[in-house]
Amino acid sequence: MPRLTIEQLREKRDAARTAPRPPAGAFTGRVLVHMGTCGVAAGAQKVLASVRDELEKRGITNIPVVTTGCAGFCSREPMMTVEMRHLPPVKYGDLSPEKVRRIVAEHIANNNIVAEFAIAVGSEQARNGNTAERLTFAPSDTAPHVPWISDLPFFSKQALIVLRNKAVIDPEKIDDYIARDGYAALEKVLTGLTPERVMEEITRAGLRGRGGAGFPTGIKWRVCRAEKKTPKYIIGNCDEGDPGAYMDRSLLESDPHSLIEGMTIAAYAIGASRGYVYVRSEYPLAIQRLQGALIQARDYGLLGAKVLGSSFDFDLEIREGSGAFVCGEETSLIHSIEGEIPEPRQRPPFPAQVGLWGCPTVINNVETLANVPVIITRGAEWFSGIGTATSKGTKIFSLVGKINNTGLIEVPMGITLREIVNEIGGGIPDNKQFKAVQTGGPSGGCIPNSLIDLPIDYENLREAGSMMGSGGMIVMDEDTCMVDVSKFFLQFTNDESCGKCSACREGSDALLEVLTRISNGEGRDGDAEFLEELGQAVKDASMCGLGQTLPNPVLSTLRHFRDEYVAHIKDKNCPAKVCKPLVKYYIDPDKCPGCMLCLKNCPAGAVKGENKHVHVIDQTTCTKCGECLEICPPKVSAVVKLSGREAQELQSLPSPIPVREWRARKAAETGTGVRRAQ
Ligand SMILES: Cc1cc2nc3c(=O)[nH]c(=O)nc-3n(C[C@H](O)[C@H](O)[C@H](O)COP(=O)(O)O)c2cc1C
Ligand code: SF4
Ligand code: SF4
Repeated sequence: MPRLTIEQLREKRDAARTAPRPPAGAFTGRVLVHMGTCGVAAGAQKVLASVRDELEKRGITNIPVVTTGCAGFCSREPMMTVEMRHLPPVKYGDLSPEKVRRIVAEHIANNNIVAEFAIAVGSEQARNGNTAERLTFAPSDTAPHVPWISDLPFFSKQALIVLRNKAVIDPEKIDDYIARDGYAALEKVLTGLTPERVMEEITRAGLRGRGGAGFPTGIKWRVCRAEKKTPKYIIGNCDEGDPGAYMDRSLLESDPHSLIEGMTIAAYAIGASRGYVYVRSEYPLAIQRLQGALIQARDYGLLGAKVLGSSFDFDLEIREGSGAFVCGEETSLIHSIEGEIPEPRQRPPFPAQVGLWGCPTVINNVETLANVPVIITRGAEWFSGIGTATSKGTKIFSLVGKINNTGLIEVPMGITLREIVNEIGGGIPDNKQFKAVQTGGPSGGCIPNSLIDLPIDYENLREAGSMMGSGGMIVMDEDTCMVDVSKFFLQFTNDESCGKCSACREGSDALLEVLTRISNGEGRDGDAEFLEELGQAVKDASMCGLGQTLPNPVLSTLRHFRDEYVAHIKDKNCPAKVCKPLVKYYIDPDKCPGCMLCLKNCPAGAVKGENKHVHVIDQTTCTKCGECLEICPPKVSAVVKLSGREAQELQSLPSPIPVREWRARKAAETGTGVRRAQ
């Protein structure tokens, strides 16, 4: 493919955009199989193979099968969308090869939607105001009852800017991207905007960094541009080391050209001719798709010498991450690209002044950069009209944990946690209570139920003791112990600390030691105050963001859930019954029919009993695995978990006794039943 000039790119896009709609009767349909890592892990390869197989078997050759990135509804993967003439697009979920066979037979071959496998009908893109929607649908009385996509909060509450192309284009085809306004922003920049104008547009749009701290992107670019030293570099940060976060991976897997275009525009603005995308090596599919996109962009003349025939030279390379959380920190990341030990260094000077190989370097998160083409195309006013006073645009979150609809969501800044948890997320499974949400990963904090109406933006999250972070959102229910949660995150940052400064290295050791003691039931008076004091000291004295934020999970849970710490320390009680040393399993003799199920399934041999005997747990051999609680039939519910006083005052029966004997003994007793005796 020859390198394109600006005119040729424009012609290509115009041709795709204005291509005559298939004449009535010519468009028969297409199938989109959603193949992000989550879909593939859930079995999307088998779904793809089944669709192709079934179409072939039926001799259907006029229905193209397109592979796209993740559709976002991860809990319903594997998914596919079927677009057939005279019907609205239909999203099918929880697919298996058998279901696919039925969908091909009924929907594709016979134009009948298989309502029982359908999640929704309609198109996300139509809902987002995209006029390129090709299909029309006239609902009829006989249409099956499947919700419209616009009626499902999971879709309707989202606003797709960065993820505008997800599940619509084939990420491995540059023409698909171009057809949806791809590289139009770059064309606009190269034909009429000075670097200064580009930076002004980004600044006026109010774009802030999506990688954690929310630093204004336009200002960062200006600092770099103002530096005299050359060459300059642009780096896209896709290290994404936070547990539970996968926004950036999904972006690269579903729309790699939006990052390439954003980085090219950023490079033009700051005066860089070389850039790197730093991707963690655990993301093979993202790397593969980005690699393919880079080759195509170079072939089209969108990268390399004289981009689109202009005087601007720019090229991009991928650098695979070194596999540590701290590699995502910007100075550490620079060391990693330089081939040095990936340890942070003191700032200032900031990378925008002294960065890669001592040269001015802008590092932006990949989501930040993918916003850039849309801002240039649609304008700063449009972008700044979305969001809150201080936080503009949208944010992608990976919504995980105790939530019905796990998935990848893009929402306008200012949306409340309630809308995310109850509407988009569909609430908490098993009718449990929502307890808290952890945002910002190990650097963030837990926001309690009492703040569920908090509009989400950078400032509100910080005031609540958390932070936006890069977008991990872990939902917790009533069964979550907040001491255990902060111990989990502390363990993570303690493992990941590079150890360069003592405040972070020793401080995280000490914090972890106290938290471990508390969850082991060995907490002492003053521990909570000590954690607060030490946490603040670690924040103040650490050199990089890892140490400066690692106490956040502890401090935020102490602020919002102090009573849980007190219960652990003073009463040796874990209210959520999570901390194993504070928990005992017990078989209620009044309920146990002696069915032997728990005895047979106890991996430690800790359950004693025989048929029709009240069973007893030997507390000295019980490993607290919980298997007996799981296996005891719900209608019996004889096994219970206890903590605090109940657990401490538990008295064991010396040995199992026949159920009949126990009941007789109980009947002989007067008063209200039998004391818990085990
Ligand atoms: C320990 C640590 C890990 C980080 N990991 C990431 C990451 O994975 N991705 C990212 O974009 N920023 C990460 N950051 C923030 C970066 O240092 C940097 O601020 C960011 O990439 C700047 O981009 P932005 O202005 O677009 O947000 C991390 C910071 C720290 C302290
Ligand atoms: S704060 Fe922690 S991770 Fe950062 S430089 Fe110091 S020891 Fe290393
Ligand atoms: S908790 Fe586990 S080890 Fe203990 S009695 Fe039940 S099944 Fe056995």
